[in-house]
Amino acid sequence: MEKYIIEGGHRLHGEVEISGAKNAVVAIIPATILAKDRCVIENVPNISDVSILLHILQDLGAKVSYLGKNTVEIDTSHITEPVVPYESSRHLRASYYFLGAFLGRFNQAHVSPPGGCNFGVRPIDQHIKGFEALGASVSTDYGFIHATAEELYGSHIYLDVVSVGATINIMLAAVKAKGLTILENAAKEPHIVDLANFLNSMGADIRGAGTDVIKIHGVDVLRGTSYSIIPDQIEAGTYMTIAAAAGGDVLIKNVIPKHLESITDKLLQAGVSVTEYDDAIRIIRSKPLKKVNVKTMPHPGFPTDMQPQMTTLLAIAEGTSIVTEGVWDNRFKYVDELRRMGAHIQVDGKVAVVEGVPQLTAAPVKAVDLRAGAAVLQAALCATGISEVEDIHYIERGYEDVVEKLQKIGCSIKKVPISSPTLSQAQ
Ligand code: EPU
Repeated sequence: MEKYIIEGGHRLHGEVEISGAKNAVVAIIPATILAKDRCVIENVPNISDVSILLHILQDLGAKVSYLGKNTVEIDTSHITEPVVPYESSRHLRASYYFLGAFLGRFNQAHVSPPGGCNFGVRPIDQHIKGFEALGASVSTDYGFIHATAEELYGSHIYLDVVSVGATINIMLAAVKAKGLTILENAAKEPHIVDLANFLNSMGADIRGAGTDVIKIHGVDVLRGTSYSIIPDQIEAGTYMTIAAAAGGDVLIKNVIPKHLESITDKLLQAGVSVTEYDDAIRIIRSKPLKKVNVKTMPHPGFPTDMQPQMTTLLAIAEGTSIVTEGVWDNRFKYVDELRRMGAHIQVDGKVAVVEGVPQLTAAPVKAVDLRAGAAVLQAALCATGISEVEDIHYIERGYEDVVEKLQKIGCSIKKVPISSPTLSQAQ
């Protein structure tokens, strides 16, 4: 077990390179099953969610080999059993994408319901509604979800709530179904478009991804492909708020600025200088931060996965900001950690009232989930004194080389075994 030791208060300068998108790659890895062939995927982030998915594929009989640090070759032709047991699936939410991918290839899937970050109830009724509309029978027993069909048929599906996971799972299942599937009220996140582009490069016929109506003409066969994952919108956004919180001048490279517009807009309102280039974004913060109100929404709204980092930024802004969580029921659990660092934040259900303080102070804190972990990391980087961050495995689920990247822009951060002394004693 390891922890981060962070000496806060350093202004940041330099460049940071953004990795491939976690929420795209966790859909694309299971999607390789649909090819029954060899796929080469580039720009794969080296994060624990990826290792878990690749291990699941290997357990299923796929051949997986790294051709470089971020390039993986996956051959799924030898997979015969569409089964993922609880021991494998429980570590991450995205394991439910094996349901759609298995259904698409084998017309059956047996997957134990997933784990993942705990933001309250995380139903999968819309996934099941989609599978059933395509002609599958879905049941649950002995901790498994079973979905089986003689044949899948295209259908007209209207999602009751905008769901990233359901949109992806339905695309995976429908891509080889007979006829046309029309998915309405679909999610529009960049990773939905990335998955559609990946599947189309395998020979699928998917149109409209990135709008709220996706049309999928089923095809008989999908073939192997080479594909490069898009840059991670949320990793980029996290470095934007870290640079804004700590202050300084940071160039964030390998990004798609269009994907970051809702975050850019809020940072500009907060008084941060944001300059967009073709594939980079520069953050300069030299003045005090100003209050901003934020409400999270499905894309293109402000992303819920940036809510903890934005709230943490506003904790040191002048004035009182209101942050409303519009996607998840319970995503303010990290606020207790921030309060111990001197933040003044009151939470009532899905609304946080953030009364800015001039400075946070160091404390021992823990990551309570992935983005909450990014938030406490950010808080520690701008607090006075030396903080310790525990439960960092949550952070490493989604941020590649986070310690090295932060050190490169001037952060004082070290990863040490849990029993180690603090930074000043260790030096
Ligand atoms: N919902 C339902 N029924 C369903 C599915 C979802 O009611 O069948 C509700 C959820 O309870 C929630 C809302 O719909 O209130 C949105 O959930 P969604 O299905 O979009 O979330 P998800 O697919 O489980 C993905 C990301 C999350 C991100 C959300 C929202 C992955 C692996 N996870 O989750 O990312 O918060 O979309 O954008 O793509 C993260 O990266 O830290 C993370 C948690």
